[in-house]
Amino acid sequence: MNNPKILVTGSGGQIGTVLVNALREKYGEDQVVASDLKPSTSQGLFVQLDITDSEALDAALSDHKITVIYHLAALLSSKGEENIHLTWDINLLSYLKLLDIAKSNGIKKIFFPSTIGIYGQSTPKQNTQQHTSFEPETMYGITKYTGELWSAYYNKKYGMDIRSIRYPGVISYQSRPHGGTTDYAVDIFFEAVEKGKYECYLSKNTKLPMIYMPDMIRATLMLMEAPKDDLTIDMSYNVTGFSVTPDSLHQEIKKHIPDFEVTYKPDHRQQIAESWTESIDDYYAIKDWAWSPKFDIATMTRDMLSHITVPEES
Ligand SMILES: NC(=O)c1ccc[n+]([C@@H]2O[C@H](COP(=O)([O-])OP(=O)(O)OC[C@H]3O[C@@H](n4cnc5c(N)ncnc54)[C@H](O)[C@@H]3O)[C@@H](O)[C@H]2O)c1
Repeated sequence: MNNPKILVTGSGGQIGTVLVNALREKYGEDQVVASDLKPSTSQGLFVQLDITDSEALDAALSDHKITVIYHLAALLSSKGEENIHLTWDINLLSYLKLLDIAKSNGIKKIFFPSTIGIYGQSTPKQNTQQHTSFEPETMYGITKYTGELWSAYYNKKYGMDIRSIRYPGVISYQSRPHGGTTDYAVDIFFEAVEKGKYECYLSKNTKLPMIYMPDMIRATLMLMEAPKDDLTIDMSYNVTGFSVTPDSLHQEIKKHIPDFEVTYKPDHRQQIAESWTESIDDYYAIKDWAWSPKFDIATMTRDMLSHITVPEES
């Protein structure tokens, strides 16, 4: 496919705002239609739609002659627990409808982001393998794991080309995350620069896998561009950057902001984080599409801090 016409759902979120720009840079401004429940705050082709509204989605696909979908719209792990039925509807039922509508519109290529939230207590925590135990404990994890199964089913049964990555926590400076369990790993940088102190909702030594946004965008585009015959994973690829704890991030930021203080007050998100894994084995991503992250905790921290500035007094 030379020049895909792309729809990005959930384009107004932490990842969508950056991914849309990357896709426009790669394929051209007019090739990418952004779409979200909330109105757009940036320039470019945009359709405001609720992903649960199948007719609106169908119309957007045919109006814009879409050939590829990046389906990001979802409720995340922490937010998802506030209304589990809505999370099921948005994350899973809408995905099933999207698959059928895509199929009837002749669209085969879809990107579906999964998550480390599909793991549970029975999953080995260190170096978690691609094929392992999955007993997610949040509705978010349940919907994403089931979504992976549906993707594999549609790939096999209908010859679709649905590709997916189990994103670890994503660290970025371009937009602040909301509603996830790994949000702290972004907030800590902003609070360090803006206030010199941060109260963390996870405990000091809670270790989780993370990835820096430029690497996550690169991984996504690498997977979507990889020759189909090279791909051996039908569900979703394990991918990682590096693993951090709140304390290791604190110590790394202190190398640049020596007086930075962190206090700890774990809340309900601690339990979610403890049900996930600490580090990921991304052997198949390395083997199938030559994945390799460019950022580690030190280079990510330096880059994050170079982009975050103290807001001017109003
Ligand atoms: N950010 C992470 O650390 C992370 C990690 C793993 C997986 N993911 C996955 O990546 C995707 C994007 O994540 P994000 O961090 O950008 O999330 P986000 O919460 O920042 O953005 C999600 C977007 O979806 C939109 N949305 C919600 N309900 C909608 C609806 N009914 N119709 C249309 N749009 C709707 C929201 O308005 C929001 O702009 C999600 O599928 C998420 O599960 C993210």
